[in-house]
Formats: sequence, structure tokens, C-alpha cells
Amino acid sequence: TLDSFASDPVRIAVIGGSGLYKLDALEQLGTADVQTPWGTPSNPITIARLPTGQRVAFLARHGHTHSYNPSEVPFRANIAALKAIGVRIILAFSAVGSLREEIRPGDFVLPSQLIDRTKGIRPSTFFENGAASHAPFADPFYAKAADLVAREAAITVPNLKIHRDKTLICMEGPAFSTRAESNLYRAWGGDVINMSVVPEAKLAREAEIAYQMVCMSTDYDCWRVGGEDVTVQTVVETMTGNSRNAKQLLLTLLPALGETIATDAAVHVDEQEIKKQDRFFS
Ligand code: ADE
Repeated sequence: TLDSFASDPVRIAVIGGSGLYKLDALEQLGTADVQTPWGTPSNPITIARLPTGQRVAFLARHGHTHSYNPSEVPFRANIAALKAIGVRIILAFSAVGSLREEIRPGDFVLPSQLIDRTKGIRPSTFFENGAASHAPFADPFYAKAADLVAREAAITVPNLKIHRDKTLICMEGPAFSTRAESNLYRAWGGDVINMSVVPEAKLAREAEIAYQMVCMSTDYDCWRVGGEDVTVQTVVETMTGNSRNAKQLLLTLLPALGETIATDAAVHVDEQEIKKQDRFFS
């Protein structure tokens, strides 16, 4: 129950995107069926234990069988549910299209910026009905987690190419972009594109949860002259390798994140602070 999480919170969460539907390399402790004032999350949250003893929550963004398209994902319920079990850091994985020649399918990308091209149809704030507030969002990602991902990946998956400090475009979908849009995003400075970072990152910010997205490149979208235009099939084919790399990386990355929680003031929040966020616990 939620009571047990209040006294023994789970601090780290992984949100899995297309291709990453569970953390099967870790010892599974069970699932938490968290209901929130914003509804039911995509899935029950699974709780796993690291070899260090620390626990980690996992949530599959699109459901285990990929039943929610990006416009339908219950983002508020997902973030509120993670908040309710005590999560302070989210590592969110996502398949992305590449808008740059040097970002090849199979490469990973750590964005530091995003451009929101969703259409405003996704409920994307906790601050309404009298709770008006404006969260700062100039730097949407938690750079310390990006540093750790880069550091651990260099050790555990040395052949994996990681691109840092990139700009992620988030489009509405579910149809892919037109060629003109794809070229426009390149001209804007976009490096990769997905359909999921908004409103997930915004809601995490509002809930005061540190958030870093780890993008797994699957295709070159449709801007590349003479290239193959993106299809679901190309995305899925590349995802198998991506998923293997992500799981390998997480084995050492998660314990490293655990240490960060203990030492970084930005994510080490005292119980007073958590009480202030009571509305996430109802
Ligand atoms: N996810 C994976 N590839 C994509 C693309 N080309 N556009 C948008 N989202 C994606």
C-alpha cells in the first residue's frame, strides 16, 4: 500500500518507451497498483531490487502491450503515481528519429533541450482548478543524470555511441512528420524527434522530480535525400539492439543514480518538502 511507501519510499524510477517494457535483469519485488487524482497509470508500477539493495520503480509508458499511442498516454497519472511512491529521479527512455547524419540508428542521445510541437491536446499540468503556478522549464533535463549515463555507458557498453547536449523535438503524431516538417525541425536546430517527452518532462518538473530522457535513435525520419523514410518496421528492428544496450547500461547506472540521490542536494529532499506535496498522495 501507499503507507509503506511513505515510510520506505522508492527514489529512482525508469520509464520505458517503445522496446523497453520491463527490467527483467533485476530481482522483481512486486507491483504497486497506484491510483491517483489524475486517474490510473499506463500500467501497475513494478518494483525491482538492485544488487545494492536499493529499489527501483519501472513503468512502461505505452503499457506492456503498447496499447496507448503517445497522444493517449495518461502522463499525469504516471507522474503522480511515481511521486506518490516517493520517486525523486526519473530516467525516461524513448525511441527517437534522427535529424542529423552523425546520429545513426542505434546511437543513444542525451538531450539537454526540447522544442514542444505537440498540439495542446494532452493534459499537461497539475496546476489547475485554483492551483495556478508556473514552473521554471528553461533547462528541462537533469544534467547530472546525463553525466552519469555518459560515464557508465563508456564503461558498460563501450561500443555504444552517445551524443550529448542535443535538442529534442516533440511532435504530436501518431503519424510521422512530412518531409517539409522534418527539414523545418533541422533548420530550427532539432537533433532528434519523438512523440513522448511532452508533457512527461513538464509534469516531472511540476512534481519536483529530476528528469532525464535517454533517447535511442531508431531511424533517420524522412529528411535524408536518397534515404529510406521512417516506418514502424524500421523503428521496431532497431529497437531490439537498443533495448539490449539500455538494459546493460542500467545495471551499473542505477546504483550510480542511487549514490547521487544520497549526495546531490537537488534531488535529496527532506520529509518536510515531501509533505508540502501532499496532494500527490490522495
Ligand atoms: N520515434 C521514433 N522515430 C520517430 C520519428 N521519426 N518521428 C517521431 N517519433 C519517432
